[in-house]
Amino acid sequence: MKENPAQYALPHIQALAAYTPGKQPDTADWIKLNTNELTYPPSPRVAQAITAELHCLERYPSPISAALRSTIAKRHGLLPSQVIVGNGSDDVLNLLMRAFCGQNMSAGMLLPSYSLYPVLAAIQGQQISYIPFTSEMRLPVDACASSKANIFFLTAPNAPTGVFFPMEEIAAVASRINGILVIDEAYAEFAPSDCVPLLHKYRNVVITRTCSKTQGLAGLRVGWGMGDPDVIEILDRVRDSYNVNRLSQAGAKAALEDVAYYSDIIARIRTTRDSFAREVAQRGFYSYPSVANFILTRPTTRSGQYGPEQAQSLFDAFYERRILVRYLPGTALTDAFLRISIGTPEQMNTLLEVIDQWQTRA
Ligand SMILES: Cc1ncc(COP(=O)(O)O)c(C=O)c1O
Repeated sequence: MKENPAQYALPHIQALAAYTPGKQPDTADWIKLNTNELTYPPSPRVAQAITAELHCLERYPSPISAALRSTIAKRHGLLPSQVIVGNGSDDVLNLLMRAFCGQNMSAGMLLPSYSLYPVLAAIQGQQISYIPFTSEMRLPVDACASSKANIFFLTAPNAPTGVFFPMEEIAAVASRINGILVIDEAYAEFAPSDCVPLLHKYRNVVITRTCSKTQGLAGLRVGWGMGDPDVIEILDRVRDSYNVNRLSQAGAKAALEDVAYYSDIIARIRTTRDSFAREVAQRGFYSYPSVANFILTRPTTRSGQYGPEQAQSLFDAFYERRILVRYLPGTALTDAFLRISIGTPEQMNTLLEVIDQWQTRA
């Protein structure tokens, strides 16, 4: 018998490094700008819908999230058979990887982008292949289109940079790639446009979305995928039978139906983002042009110095003031930057004060 029962696990799972989520503090006294959650409360209709659902918790939820699927389909001008709902969009990304990546069928992604994809591939016993961005962060269309991956993950707008890719460029990849193209649109509702029109043209495209960012429901865990009915049917085979609980289905549906409430919040976030970008630019920070609800910015001293040391130093200065942002030291393209979620104007002003104090010292 093996000394440690964990040694009975599959060898590639024993070697697996788990995904590291951003810190989730257990007290409310932090300005929390490290995981791109909404810093406004969700629509009041969410709590009403959840309360109304409390009387039937003894019953299983709709296995296919039927009502929510219909709401999502209507929102995007699709059929319910083109939609799958997940326990967060991570669940849908996981289903995609489980169904389309395995022995002799690899996955691909751009670097940097969402660091969950390689972990999901590793669970399938596969190494993901990376296509690196250059410092301009433009979409390398030819490299993506000629990827040998059976499933390719494209985050659009990109995370962690927030950079927008024109739909024609993504269409060029979709039309040429020999595999499934997943467009992870976690942040698309903050951007000027999205790739939903591509679903009418390319059967190999799957788009994933989430209620965690725009709808302020990260705690509820709801996301969805949209694609060809045949692909959705494959994903439905892999999904847990009751993958989204009753309260989450009801709450997400109420949120997605309250379009007016969220249009106002999206407008506020865009305004705050653009104004924060101008403020840090005036202080000498370079930032990638972001269309998302966060900004990747490079802390720079008054004398013009920047690099990993300066990024860590400003991260620490924020932390001392109980402000959480994200430092991503993993790749050379991001290790001199901090990723900062866009909060309320008041929160962003507090950050600017900390930056000013840091610049006088650094
Ligand atoms: C690019 C991207 N995709 C997906 C997700 C996961 O979202 P969800 O909360 O729906 O699982 C995130 C969350 O940070 C993300 O940044």
